[in-house]
Amino acid sequence: MQANSSSGTAQVHINLAERSYPIVIGASLLGQPATYRDLPAASTALIVSNSTVAPLYAAQLQAALQSHYKTVLLVTLPDGEAHKDWPTLQLIFDALLKNGCDRKTVLFALGGGVVGDMTGFAAASYMRGVPFVQVPTTLLAQVDSSVGGKTAINHPLGKNMIGAFYQPQQVVCDLDVLKTLPARELSAGLAEVIKYGPIADMAFLDWIETNLNALLAREPAALAHAIRRSCEIKASVVGQDERESGLRAILNFGHTFGHAIEAGLGYGAWLHGEGVGCGMVMAAHLSQRLGLVDAAFVQRLSTLIQRAGLPVVGARLSPTDNAGRYLELMRVDKKAEAGEIRFVVIDGPGRAAVRSAPDALVREVIDSCCD
Ligand code: NAD
Ligand code: GLY
Repeated sequence: MQANSSSGTAQVHINLAERSYPIVIGASLLGQPATYRDLPAASTALIVSNSTVAPLYAAQLQAALQSHYKTVLLVTLPDGEAHKDWPTLQLIFDALLKNGCDRKTVLFALGGGVVGDMTGFAAASYMRGVPFVQVPTTLLAQVDSSVGGKTAINHPLGKNMIGAFYQPQQVVCDLDVLKTLPARELSAGLAEVIKYGPIADMAFLDWIETNLNALLAREPAALAHAIRRSCEIKASVVGQDERESGLRAILNFGHTFGHAIEAGLGYGAWLHGEGVGCGMVMAAHLSQRLGLVDAAFVQRLSTLIQRAGLPVVGARLSPTDNAGRYLELMRVDKKAEAGEIRFVVIDGPGRAAVRSAPDALVREVIDSCCD
């Protein structure tokens, strides 16, 4: 990690041989032509954004990119997790083909994780791969989804089930864009920030506990530190296991339960970060029942998640067999093997592992964590 004190920007590097790239973190980056000066040369850039973010930031980005590209196009997608699907993805391909975009065209994902995941998938598949840049505009996207090259759309039967590993050329985390983020979305992003503590860095968890009010108040120095440390941890994990053959799964702490809630309630009812926040509480309870952590650890995590404005009580997904519905949904999780659900558990403070657990035990956890 390098910090440039004169400009106040910091860089975290993702080391993946020829697929390496920088994550740039700082204020007023998005609208500066210099931010994009090291990208591959091309005649055309296509900004992919959505109906909420484009009116706020597309003009600034478009103006900055005009210094580097002859043509800067914009495609505006409908907003929301419910649109992370084939018909919406097709709108990106429509824009690329209708405008005669060649295989050097650079895509810019301007938005949260939904726009980032879809733009990345479009970049991975258009003409079998064109370069793309992540310009994440939510806290969640700045600390997690824009980094590491996971791209996907949802299927009605499972979240992020159709996609590709495809790394961006650069990630640009502009702190200023977080000023317009709704409070509920800020909290959702904090779920992914908190995640890095129990799985990798208890000192960072201590720091989050101490600085949570500053983060909720959007103090730039606190946000910059949280984003930088989160990206450092993610960069280290992804650098060791790009395609999730093992270690990378720990980044899914809370996600198995959380994805079940998102899919079970219908995408968009709970935000992804809300599912992850509550899912971490459920996964911590499972870790305790497996004898890996004590009750005080579970309480500590739950208190922090609640303070961050996130749900800590699981959603009811079925009036008759709630735990059975969770189990059914969790069996389509990408970590499941031969129908056996595998959970990210906390194996001791600051350390995560992937484990299976007897259905009866998981049922007990779900019953104790839901209303
Ligand atoms: P999102 O993309 O839906 O954005 C949240 C909301 O905030 C949207 O309504 C968006 O339009 C709005 N918004 C975005 N930036 C804004 C800004 N600066 N000001 C005002 N409004 C703004 O949700 P998200 O939480 O960013 O991302 C969630 C998605 O990310 C999920 O689909 C999840 O699966 C995915 N994800 C992917 C990875 C990965 O590794 N690829 C990791 C975590 C999450
Ligand atoms: N968000 C989990 C991962 O990138 O692997």
